[in-house]
Amino acid sequence: MLATFYQQQREHIASVSRAYQQCMADHQLDSLAIYSGHADNHFADDHATSFQSYGHFIHWIGMADVQHSWLVIQPEQRPQLFLYAPADFWHLPTQLPEEPWVAEFDVHLCSDKITPPLSGRAAIIGDVMGLTSATQLAQKATLNPEALIRALDEQRMDKTAYEVACLREANRLAVAGHQAANAAFLGASAELDIQLSYLGASRQREMEVPYQNIIGLNQHAGVLHYQRYDVTAPKQRYSLLVDAGKRFRGYCADITRTYAGPDAPSEFGDLITAMHGLKDTLIGQIAPGVSFFSLHEQMHQGLADILVAHHLYEGSAESAVESGVTRAFCPHGLGHSLGIQVHDVAGLMQPDGTPSPAPSSHPALRLTRTLRPGMVVTIEPGLYFIPMLLAPLRNKALPINWPLVDTLSVCGGIRIEDNILVTENGADNLTQ
Ligand code: GLY
Ligand code: MN
Ligand code: MN
Repeated sequence: MLATFYQQQREHIASVSRAYQQCMADHQLDSLAIYSGHADNHFADDHATSFQSYGHFIHWIGMADVQHSWLVIQPEQRPQLFLYAPADFWHLPTQLPEEPWVAEFDVHLCSDKITPPLSGRAAIIGDVMGLTSATQLAQKATLNPEALIRALDEQRMDKTAYEVACLREANRLAVAGHQAANAAFLGASAELDIQLSYLGASRQREMEVPYQNIIGLNQHAGVLHYQRYDVTAPKQRYSLLVDAGKRFRGYCADITRTYAGPDAPSEFGDLITAMHGLKDTLIGQIAPGVSFFSLHEQMHQGLADILVAHHLYEGSAESAVESGVTRAFCPHGLGHSLGIQVHDVAGLMQPDGTPSPAPSSHPALRLTRTLRPGMVVTIEPGLYFIPMLLAPLRNKALPINWPLVDTLSVCGGIRIEDNILVTENGADNLTQ
């Protein structure tokens, strides 16, 4: 099993290498240096912010916590990894694992922060302007050439078998966290304790999470990126929304579940069941050639059907979509590309790199692509009771059942999110 995985990783590196060679030829480059990034200190402090290596670096190395290091790519040459590994008794220097992939690189352990060796027409990827060598680097190389980065981003859309295996494992570990979070909720825990249960069961510390976990009880479930954790449990337990992930070798899971608490109005549990059904229906529509925007529109139609079926809207489903009611109940997009970044690159461009922005009527949509096998996307329909978004509708003559909306508002909202691989025939749900 492990042997297969390591073989897949070597094939992944070979595939990344081929893609880089092609892009460098297309852009007439003789050398390309990819920076790992590094954590900056807080202002006037000697403690650093949390950090993840740059995506282009992780794409090759699969380690998300490497700093001050460089990867140098040249045509027809082995990739050169300059790994910053100083003698340091304050910290544990970065070490490479004893795994077969390391043999694919010429590894140079560097006791100092280095300037990467570049020759001929050169380019650099990474935010290097804060480095003391920035001026020198800018003289030697083009910094972050847009066309090259768009071409490399496009490569990240198509996941290799190794990347899919990593995303599947990230999901498996995150699911264990979600089960623990649900158990903590059943035990009447506070948001902070639910978070700690999640972290423990998914085997990670908070600085490693791919995005700040969203763990909201009651009305906090309606704050889309809720970022604080109450340390005491509320007296009434209406709902819990957990949107929480996990990295595995750099690759991210991004899963959401919503639960009804013992004090929830009965309609809330029914709405959760309906939203699970909508999520599954949308996943069933996934196939090569399908436009993600059309799936997003189907989410709004499905949401309208749910609003009507559950007596939140007493008009036709079509009018709920046309009048913008569904957008007030769900202001975010159906999903996004998923990979080394939670909101992965290239979601808003065409395969040739031309921009493909979200339509102005759906500005939060992060993916406007036509699906093809190898893409990994999230499907995350939502239904929220967000006072700020519903308030403007109250003055309009819309057939919204306001007493029911007000009853359900204490629950905040619902989001259900799975991670899906597009296959030749349809979809493979990585969130099991
Ligand atoms: N966790 C952020 C998102 O679902 O996009
Ligand atoms: Mn999420
Ligand atoms: Mn997501």
